[in-house]
This record gives sequence, C-alpha cells and structure tokens, in this order.
Amino acid sequence: MEVIIVDSPKLVAERAADEIEGQVEAKSDAVLGLATGSTPLRLYKEISTRAAQNSLSYKSVTTFNLDEYIGLSASDPRSYRFYMDQRLFSNIDIETANTHVPSCALTEDPQEVCEQYEASIARAGGIDLQVLGIGTNGHIGFNEPSSSLSSLTRVKTLTDRTVRDNRRLFADNEFQPRLAITMGIQTISNATRVLLLATGKRKAAAVSAAIEGPVTAMCPASALQFHRNVTFIIDSAAASELKQADYYRWVEQAKQDLALSRHRALD
Ligand code: PGA
Repeated sequence: MEVIIVDSPKLVAERAADEIEGQVEAKSDAVLGLATGSTPLRLYKEISTRAAQNSLSYKSVTTFNLDEYIGLSASDPRSYRFYMDQRLFSNIDIETANTHVPSCALTEDPQEVCEQYEASIARAGGIDLQVLGIGTNGHIGFNEPSSSLSSLTRVKTLTDRTVRDNRRLFADNEFQPRLAITMGIQTISNATRVLLLATGKRKAAAVSAAIEGPVTAMCPASALQFHRNVTFIIDSAAASELKQADYYRWVEQAKQDLALSRHRALD
C-alpha cells in the first residue's frame, strides 16, 4: 500500500487529478471507476478546469460509478447520476453512453440491474483505475460494515450512521432512501489500481482502521490491504490517527528524491 499525506484537501484533489490524467494519457480508452460524495468534488472541479485548458480527451474513456440510491430518478438532483452529470461529465468531452451509474427505476428488478452492471464492467475489460472515498464507518461504495469481503454489485441497506452522514444532502421533509445499489468489495478489488481519497479529521479513525487495523468486514476499506496497487491520498487531518504517519511521509520523500536524481542523471 502506498500512503501519500499532503497538507490540504486542495492538494489531495490535485494529486488525484494527476493520477487520472496520467491514466487517460497512458490509455485513451481507459475504464475509470468513480465515486460521489463530498470528497471527490474538488477532484472533479480540478479535472474540469484542466480539461478546459489542455487537450486531453475523454472521448474514448468509459466510467462506472460505485453506487446509486434506489428510488431516485436520474433527473433528481440528489441522485448520483445527476451529481456526476453536473460535476464532471458535462465539463469534459466524454460520451454520455460510455458513463455508467447503477441506476434502478422502481419498475426494474434490482437483482437484474446488479448482474447487468457486473457484466458491463466485464465487457468493458475491467476497471483500470478506481477512485474511492471512505465513510466515517469505513465503508467503501455503500459496502457497510459486515459486508462480505468477496461481495459483487448488489442491493445494500444503509446503516443509521451513513443515513445520518448523508442527511445534509436532503431537505428536512424530503424522502431519503435507505436502499442503494453498490459495487461489491470484490468488484472494487478487481480494479487494476485503486485510489482512496480522504480529507478532514472526521475521517481519521476510519483511515487508520483501513490502513493499520486488522482486515475485517467491520471496516470494509481494510480489504484494500489485499490489493497490490492501492494508493491512499489523504490530507494531514485525515492522517492524524495513523501510527506510522512519519514513515509514510519519509517513504514519499524518498521516492521524490529518487525520481529527482534519476531525472537529473538523464538530463
Ligand atoms: P463523503 O463520503 O466524501 O461525502 O465524506 C464518502 C463516503 O461515504 O464514501
């Protein structure tokens, strides 16, 4: 696991945008796994701003979002499809048909939607780079504590804590769904590369459990300890409960020094 600690949420977004741009530069038809929530907002703004300034094209990129509420239509401003359209897709030259969110209308069979979602990911050749946030309870996607570590895309019931954490996005008298479709922990783990972003003190306990705690279904993000190519990009507040924070900073500095000396040797 690679743990990159930076000073601010802005730097988290910039670092993650570098990774995404690097992925698309290396493979123009890259398959990206994307997340919603507050954490990636800055990242999507950064990518959108850069896309307006540079010539990087997302025309051949395919995306799969982690999750979506059941019972909210795509035109509902609280749906994750609406969020993605507004925050990212409408700002880059991606083809809408290549963007996937596991939306399930009330008339559809959720089980069928989940199976088709897995099949579409497989047809696209699998996810090259998956972006994740983390819940205060350690969830990734909507894989709540006690989720099977080998789960695939399926319907999950949200915990009280997640419902409370997301309450701010709904008005007082508005319906807040408790059911969602989410990629499973295995679906996420199948991605070639995973980037987990976290900012702020309220994420510190979950980040430390994910990186330094035992692998347990009670902290779904801890399953990433099995992943061969996972990078946590976190700010110092989110890193504040890591026992080995100094070590991660030292490793990162050593990598930068090495890259610099290689660069100089080639000059
Ligand atoms: P947040 O949510 O980015 O809104 O904090 C992250 C998550 O629940 O995965």
